[in-house]
Amino acid sequence: MTRTPEGVLEATACVVDGGWGNYRQFHAIFTFYAANRRSRTFVARDSEGRVAATSVATRYGRTGWIGHLFVRPELRGHGLGTRMTSLSVSHLQRAGCDSVLLASTELGRPIYERLGFKVETSYHELRGTALPKTVELAPYRPLMPSDRAALRELDKQVSGDDRGPLLSRFEDFAWGVSRGGSLAGAAVALPWGGAWAAMLPGASDADSAAMVRLIRTVGSVGPEVIMYPPDENRLALDLLRNSGFEELRTVPRMVLGRRSEWLPAAVWNPMSLGLG
Ligand SMILES: CC(C)(COP(=O)(O)OP(=O)(O)OC[C@H]1O[C@@H](n2cnc3c(N)ncnc32)[C@H](O)[C@@H]1OP(=O)(O)O)[C@@H](O)C(=O)NCCC(=O)NCCS
Repeated sequence: MTRTPEGVLEATACVVDGGWGNYRQFHAIFTFYAANRRSRTFVARDSEGRVAATSVATRYGRTGWIGHLFVRPELRGHGLGTRMTSLSVSHLQRAGCDSVLLASTELGRPIYERLGFKVETSYHELRGTALPKTVELAPYRPLMPSDRAALRELDKQVSGDDRGPLLSRFEDFAWGVSRGGSLAGAAVALPWGGAWAAMLPGASDADSAAMVRLIRTVGSVGPEVIMYPPDENRLALDLLRNSGFEELRTVPRMVLGRRSEWLPAAVWNPMSLGLG
């Protein structure tokens, strides 16, 4: 995909016209991919030059993420999805990634299994209702530029990768809570809706309850909140279910190569299923 507004619009139209998501969300996502030098979006074109398929590869050091694999419905079942996936995998491996990760839909899973990906864990897709923006968020507070290094360190501890340059793009909308002088939890609102959110294990009941309120305000999209805590984050799963969230499905997290050294019990919500 060319890193131009036209390139972004073509890729967005392919996905949205094919029945996957909405313009507001996908336009923001592909705009982000075009601006982020660590992401590379691949498109396939049909004989008339129209975009027929997309896939995105993003690098964080030795770890790569694949996302937004999509093939126009009328062109499926001819190997295009497999080729787009292989392209992203080789791009990441050539760039030095010894671990390639993705969150898989039912349709994508057979492709990834054939390419050697193994299920690591599952994200739980939970849907709840938003809270009014006036809700009390203390002990969380808005993060300042001086918190940037601490936010980067927290995300590194939780994800296992250095994703600082990426997160710093969104930190105008970040909230955090400290414990013993260091940042123990944070949520960062994202341009495509929702929020990245993480909290180290060992939080007090007050901090945990505030995290749920934070997500239900900062991470809301209109009247709804969609969250993807991994299976290991029992605290998030219990608290969200007790707050009326309903489980819609589970989404396997799959890996090719080195397994992740991350803290899944601290992940409340990834940045997106395509970025980890
Ligand atoms: C997932 C998706 C990208 C797959 O695209 P696709 O082009 O149909 O993928 P492929 O053709 O490579 O593989 C799909 C099937 O076609 C078969 N196939 C592969 N090569 C083929 C060929 N040359 N001729 C005929 N069939 C072929 C595969 O065996 C596979 O069948 P199976 O899954 O029943 O075993 C597509 O279904 C899609 O866009 N889905 C919606 C978005 C989505 O879920 N994306 C995945 C995100 S993780």
